[in-house]
Amino acid sequence: MDGKRILLVISGGIAAYKTLDLIRRLRERGAVVRCILTEAASHFVTPLSVAALSENRVYQELFSLTDEAEMGHIRLSREADLVVVAPATANILAKMAAGIADDLATTLLLATNTPILVAPAMNVVMWEHPATQRNLTVLVERGVHVVGPATGELACGETGAGRMEEPEAILAAILALTGPGVALAGRRALVTSGPTFEPIDPVRFLGNRSSGRQGHAIAAALAALGADTVLVSGPTSLPDPPGVTVRRVSTALEMLAACLAELPVDAAVCAAAVADWRVDASLERKLKKAAGRPPTLHLVENPDILAAIAGAERRPLLVVGFAAETEDVVAHAVAKRQAKGCDWVIANDVAPGTAVFGGDSNTVHLVTATGVEPWPTLSKVEVARRLAERISAALAGQPSPAAR
Ligand code: C5P
Repeated sequence: MDGKRILLVISGGIAAYKTLDLIRRLRERGAVVRCILTEAASHFVTPLSVAALSENRVYQELFSLTDEAEMGHIRLSREADLVVVAPATANILAKMAAGIADDLATTLLLATNTPILVAPAMNVVMWEHPATQRNLTVLVERGVHVVGPATGELACGETGAGRMEEPEAILAAILALTGPGVALAGRRALVTSGPTFEPIDPVRFLGNRSSGRQGHAIAAALAALGADTVLVSGPTSLPDPPGVTVRRVSTALEMLAACLAELPVDAAVCAAAVADWRVDASLERKLKKAAGRPPTLHLVENPDILAAIAGAERRPLLVVGFAAETEDVVAHAVAKRQAKGCDWVIANDVAPGTAVFGGDSNTVHLVTATGVEPWPTLSKVEVARRLAERISAALAGQPSPAAR
């Protein structure tokens, strides 16, 4: 992030203490950080801490003579590569949506023409309130980027959505926005997507309802961050994601061979719904219907592509699997992470009624070696974007096996 200019607006929420860590991480990466504190924020963190960590003066007053003399608020808003609002309270989101400019922070947000990222943080009821959700929709439609909130225990003692995302995740979002096509530049990524079709005879097959939307979105998100991305896809009706090399396959055996041929890669994400079994010897001629004598299909197990990649000699630095379950979603995912030898598992509930298969949205948990992180219900594109950002943060600083 050398020299990237981040204008950080800190509004008045308890999560402001986490923003101090974000400032530290940004500075470590060479970003130039200028901070604005709202009046409420200064009750949670002191200007002194913010100034010390950002190694820059802190701006607080719209009508302060020195603030205006040194750098007017218009220049302050323009001389940034990204404006980040963290934490973003319900109040500041409402003001942004309405275009209110009644202090330095909101005036800057109205005056800026640079991209804006918000990290909402508030009580769960405030977050779920139709007013906040509407304000957020207005902001997203206007092009404002959003990271979080996460779900969990809140400072007020209640539990639910509203926790500000961890500094690591906000940093990943900042990296993605300040260097489009840069965060994963020089990295190679492999993604599997879609179903597999296992032939019974030339016209029939065993398949499943996977649409490929989540896997395709992940490939697109990794490519958007600059990764050289190969998508090994089973049969889907989706267009090829932009900037992605697509290898089309039909069966699990073909998918395995195509994946192994792409190693080494830095990260592999197995989102395909691979058939567990195939017909041991598919027929070359169409099976004839014989009245009263339905045929018996003899099935054999397919190889586990995820486990094969995780156990490969040229193992990627990060291997991510999916666990689509209809019950005990998280417990199964935790067990699956170990059984398959992968680093992360994205667990999702595909019980009837969740409309995950073929649908646009997904409610997932990220299961890692350190714990389980519930994500709010998000569009598959947003799940993909977040995952790509997390992958980029996880790979940061690790030498690439693909470069060897
Ligand atoms: O064992 P299960 O099918 O529930 O595991 C799901 C995860 O394993 C997904 O990431 C899927 O892409 C991967 N998988 C695979 N090859 C298989 C079966 C599953 O890569 N044969």
